[in-house]
Amino acid sequence: MTDGPRHLLSLAALDDAEFGHLFERAAALADGAAPGAPLAGLTLANLFCEPSTRTRASFELAARRIGATVLNLDLTRSSAVKGESLADTVRTLHAMHTELFVIRHADEDALVRLARTLGDARLAIANAGEGRTEHPTQGLIDALTIHRHFGGCAGIQVAIVGDIAHSRVARSAVHALHRLGAALRIAGPASLMPGAGEIPEAARCARFDDALEGAQVVMMLRVQRERIAAGGAPDAGAYFADWGLTEARLARAHPDAVVMHPGPFNRDVEIASDVADGPRQLIWHQVALGIPVRMAVLEWLAAGL
Ligand code: NCD
Repeated sequence: MTDGPRHLLSLAALDDAEFGHLFERAAALADGAAPGAPLAGLTLANLFCEPSTRTRASFELAARRIGATVLNLDLTRSSAVKGESLADTVRTLHAMHTELFVIRHADEDALVRLARTLGDARLAIANAGEGRTEHPTQGLIDALTIHRHFGGCAGIQVAIVGDIAHSRVARSAVHALHRLGAALRIAGPASLMPGAGEIPEAARCARFDDALEGAQVVMMLRVQRERIAAGGAPDAGAYFADWGLTEARLARAHPDAVVMHPGPFNRDVEIASDVADGPRQLIWHQVALGIPVRMAVLEWLAAGL
């Protein structure tokens, strides 16, 4: 990253030292390292322009655990609906001595533009999911989940399956896992696959079974209906028949394969209910790792203030 205020806008913008630091610090915190109170005296605002359960809750819990005062604003109910720009909402809260901003936004590059607009203001922005571009803390969570389960990510065969086209989670997971040496494949219905030049780090599989063959991790993704034009999303029943992960399908993966999902998951649409509740799933481990990952990120952002 270049000089100027420190933000976490994408994993792609981190250099290897920054990425390595965040990953190792999150791992240490997950192993029980004392977090201390690096956010003591600081205020964090959660600004969400889209729905969220786990991301917003875990940023809040992580921030409180390390000493911050936390404000939660639902931007769909704030002055944004009165025409205030996001930058002016941030300036408003910054004038009340809020230093850390956790932001979820529907538009591509909204946070890069925001950071540019805010210039050298003494504040830090963490991307909590932006359009279809990146969801950096989720990418760190997913990589850390695999790292802890297998003792590393290098050489692990990971299949990411579902609505890849609209998924910021897929893009950040691919970025993190590629850096850590995993072997990646992506698969989904043709209408939900990304454009030809996108996500070059992952091999493309046209069929679910090809993606599953030998996969040690099967990461399922939700169909992001809210990003698909009316009438364009697949019927849930037909989707489950073709792309739902059932026990029978999972049997085609590596015998020790684990199942992941960033949530929220739709039972019996992209994942069979018994697989979601079954012995191979790491879904709740992923959720739990949200806290140490976000503590590590917030600590790092606070150190740059
Ligand atoms: C996802 C998101 O919002 O990007 N959820 C999450 O943060 N864990 C995925 C989704 O909405 O399907």
